[in-house]
Amino acid sequence: MDDLKKILFENQGKIKNIHSKDELDSLKTILLGKNGKINQLFKKLSELENNEKKEFASQLNDLKVQITNSINKKYSEIELSTINQKLKNERIDITLPGREVLSGKIHPVAQVIDEISSIFSEIGFSIEEGPDVESEFNNFTALNTPSDHPARDMHDTFYLDSSKEFLLRTHTSPVQIRTMLKGNSPFKIIAPGRTYRCDSDQTHTPMFHQVEGLHIDENLNMGHLKGCLDYFIKEFFEVKKIKMRFRPSHFPFTEPSAEVDIGYKIKDGKIVIGEGDKWLEILGCGMVHPNVLKNVKVDPSKFQGYAFGMGIDRLAMLKYGINDLRSFFESDCRWLKFFGFDPLDIPTNYRGLSR
Ligand code: DAH
Repeated sequence: MDDLKKILFENQGKIKNIHSKDELDSLKTILLGKNGKINQLFKKLSELENNEKKEFASQLNDLKVQITNSINKKYSEIELSTINQKLKNERIDITLPGREVLSGKIHPVAQVIDEISSIFSEIGFSIEEGPDVESEFNNFTALNTPSDHPARDMHDTFYLDSSKEFLLRTHTSPVQIRTMLKGNSPFKIIAPGRTYRCDSDQTHTPMFHQVEGLHIDENLNMGHLKGCLDYFIKEFFEVKKIKMRFRPSHFPFTEPSAEVDIGYKIKDGKIVIGEGDKWLEILGCGMVHPNVLKNVKVDPSKFQGYAFGMGIDRLAMLKYGINDLRSFFESDCRWLKFFGFDPLDIPTNYRGLSR
């Protein structure tokens, strides 16, 4: 009996001093394993007299239970201290500055919209927005484009219902209508945004971006339109001189209408804007048609003005040397890393527009 107490006492001391799971595992095998000390003692039971057997068996069981409990308790302690140690070692101070700061990039289209907005706001234009889903009225009818007008066919419209009452706007011109319907003359706005046409190849995507311009006041004429666009193109391409020509054209919502080309040349495989004997069409414009003004309750005998519309994606491609329009919309991070802009470098006229 005293032997058992001694065994218990000794081993509890050993358990107490153990600090690793491996050590505890081996002691467990020595004591409680198949050929362990306790089982050896159980084997001795058969050698005892009946009256001693019961007493010894009960004490041996107690010993086994106590040793098992102590070992299990130790396992829990070791596990807890291992976790605590790990937490301590892996602690992160989230107030420390980052070692590697990955910042996002501004997409060239977003950059160019900011540049355009900055340039026009310098000369008094404010920014308007309209929804991508438009009514047939705002997109066509109010813009002097009735349902049998051939210009409608050129737009490859995405209609949203069989009655053709709603559609994805095919240009940003409906924002002219919205602006004039909700306010009073004069108006001086630009409206950048998404536009949609059912068309897709290297130079067309079903969704693209345009910016619309509208300036309505008393006594405005083509000279103001020309001056405004000349200023814009020079600022946008960051050049002092620009070769520009107005070609007669037709849009239902302007009369007279023109398309504007800018001169360019290719030098060392790169495009140089503003000089050279090649021409590039960049926008449509004209004097707002009196019918459009009547449709939005603006008196054409008192007010008149000019409007223009241009493709933003194309401007971005020209300015930043991007060849394939489709790459704009592929969401390829490597592309964006290369062509994107620093988010903190906001384009302003006085600080410089681009890098
Ligand atoms: N909305 C025309 C288009 O998408 C562009 C345009 C031309 C807009 C002449 C105008 C304008 O405001 O006056 O092709």
